[in-house]
Amino acid sequence: MAITRERVDGAAVLEKEKRYVLHPWASQSKLAAPVMVGAKGCTLWDADGKEYLDFSSQLCNVHLGFQDQRVVDAIVAQAQQLCYVSPVYLSEPRARLAELIAGIAPGDLNQSYFVVGGSEANEAAIQLARLCTGRTKILSFYRGYHGATYGAHSVSGGTGRHAAGLGIPGVVHVLEQDADQVDQIIQLEGANDVAAVILEPIRVGDGVAMPPPGFLASLRAVCDRHGVLLIFDEVVTGFGRTGKWFACDHWNVVPDMMTLAKGLNSGYAALGAVVVSDRVAAHFRETVIPFGFTNGGQPLAFASAIAVIEALREDKLVERSAWLGEVLLAELRHFPERHPSVGEVRGLGIMAGVELVKNQRTREPLVPPLAPRNVAIPSVLDGFKKHLLDHGLIAPVGGNVLRLYPPLCVTEEELHRGLRIVDEALALTDALVDPA
Ligand SMILES: Cc1ncc(COP(=O)(O)O)c(C=O)c1O
Repeated sequence: MAITRERVDGAAVLEKEKRYVLHPWASQSKLAAPVMVGAKGCTLWDADGKEYLDFSSQLCNVHLGFQDQRVVDAIVAQAQQLCYVSPVYLSEPRARLAELIAGIAPGDLNQSYFVVGGSEANEAAIQLARLCTGRTKILSFYRGYHGATYGAHSVSGGTGRHAAGLGIPGVVHVLEQDADQVDQIIQLEGANDVAAVILEPIRVGDGVAMPPPGFLASLRAVCDRHGVLLIFDEVVTGFGRTGKWFACDHWNVVPDMMTLAKGLNSGYAALGAVVVSDRVAAHFRETVIPFGFTNGGQPLAFASAIAVIEALREDKLVERSAWLGEVLLAELRHFPERHPSVGEVRGLGIMAGVELVKNQRTREPLVPPLAPRNVAIPSVLDGFKKHLLDHGLIAPVGGNVLRLYPPLCVTEEELHRGLRIVDEALALTDALVDPA
């Protein structure tokens, strides 16, 4: 494909953005992001023509990579056929996508309810669980993240959820990923009142936190014992990110519902889904689902998701994520030897978290883990983040964890190039380490 690099006046865009846009995750006066004008594969470029290798896949969603012609063509073809139809009507792209999802989802997760993003998928899952069980309480975990809408934020467990005030009633947060603790809490809350437990199999937002060994299987057993539905939020971890289609495939644990978005269509349009088990679907055979979304039936989004899933298959990107992820982790595991500021390195597939510490032995973090989110405070990591960006690498740093999750199509050359930039930047964090 010929890529046109249109000229955009970056300074004018910045001016208008500052004047007319309220920006997410930001204190408005500190706005300093580049003006992005184009992208291809794993590379974005800004209005000045500066290129950035993207090891964030933006918000860990562009799994396939940018501007894949197969997906662009599918969206254009669908746009020419039918851009919008209410989700009340049946449509060929929706039916085909749901069939594709059923084909890759584990166990008997066979029917999908479509929404416009990950937050809405979790909103819908909470409501479907309450309708299905006739119970109200939802157990979720501190430090988890499930989205920015009211219910999804309420079940999230980081400090950002305070934006939702007291949140929706009936949410009970659990601190430890410990099935015995969950069992006790379910009993203390009254098993007949608990509708569901929701969690991410791997807490990516919490610095790529892996589940303790055996935890997911034990949690499944606890839920079964109490008739509580198990909801896996695979919004980030789905669609090959971890080297299998879904993170839960690594532990062979099948939830009752799985929420999907992000990699589902790699950000080519807004889309999310809740895929439910046959048992949950059976409940709604005669019972009405009393809510829906105007844009929960967007043919353009369905067309993009079909093309993305087919491209992931055609290019064997799930398999690629598994083996290239091992290359990534093998390389990163040498970093603590030469960087005193690197603590634990963890990950699965093309997804890694690199802990930045003051002291390798105690693993005291370089920045306090519970820094408030509502005030922009200068961080000792600001210089480190700036170095990465100045050297053309987009890699998010959340709390004290550097995260690396490039698109699954990243080449080995790009992977090593990005890691070299990280390696150099770590000299800055090494200088912050407590002298022994
Ligand atoms: C695990 C998880 N669930 C849900 C969401 C919310 O998805 P969205 O931003 O598409 O609403 C996110 C977003 O980052 C997420 O990381």
